[in-house]
Amino acid sequence: MLKIAVMVSGGGTNLQAIMDAIQDHKITDTTITAVISNNADAYALERARNAGIPAVCVSRKEIPDRDAYNKALLDAVDASGADLIVLAGFLVVIPTEMIQKYRNRIINIHPSLIPSFCGTGYYGLKVHEGVLSRGVKVTGATVHFVDEGTDTGPIILQKAVAVEEGDTPQILQRRVMEQAEWQLLPQAIDLIAHDRVVVEDGLAHIR
Ligand code: GAR
Repeated sequence: MLKIAVMVSGGGTNLQAIMDAIQDHKITDTTITAVISNNADAYALERARNAGIPAVCVSRKEIPDRDAYNKALLDAVDASGADLIVLAGFLVVIPTEMIQKYRNRIINIHPSLIPSFCGTGYYGLKVHEGVLSRGVKVTGATVHFVDEGTDTGPIILQKAVAVEEGDTPQILQRRVMEQAEWQLLPQAIDLIAHDRVVVEDGLAHIR
């Protein structure tokens, strides 16, 4: 049984997709041991509590010192006993100690086709604003392992989504979630739960 901790900052629709996929047996042999948020007001926390999943908040406002905050975050992850950490819209930079301790055991969903529209400054709606202002015709989502860079780790899954005439960032965000993110993230977790993802020479392969 794969134990996962899901880290969130906001609405938690990706968390919901994971919970639904477990319920519907699209993800098997997997249990969520904790949902961890940096934001006490995140609706994701309520989704977790409604589902009876332990939900904790490690708030930057309460722990302003960066080192102390990083330690508290790592303590919360360690306490969850998770084998895999899933970043589902978690908008805090992951501390280096956590990346080293959980090497190839942290995955992230990013709402573009990496290496486009990723890296520092590209998160949430800003990604879709960037896509629209460049006028690209295809965007999408990526699930990747987390390494020391920003959105630079081994790519596990990607799915393309069409940009349409008249899209606003909000409309495009919703389409990328519906057509890509909510499928890809559960799919990646299920692959990992069944030992089907291997990292070799910095690249992820599905076996
Ligand atoms: C999602 O679109 C996710 O891909 C994005 O934040 C949103 C969270 O939505 N993550 C990033 O931009 C990470 N760089 P949710 O809280 O409804 O799952």
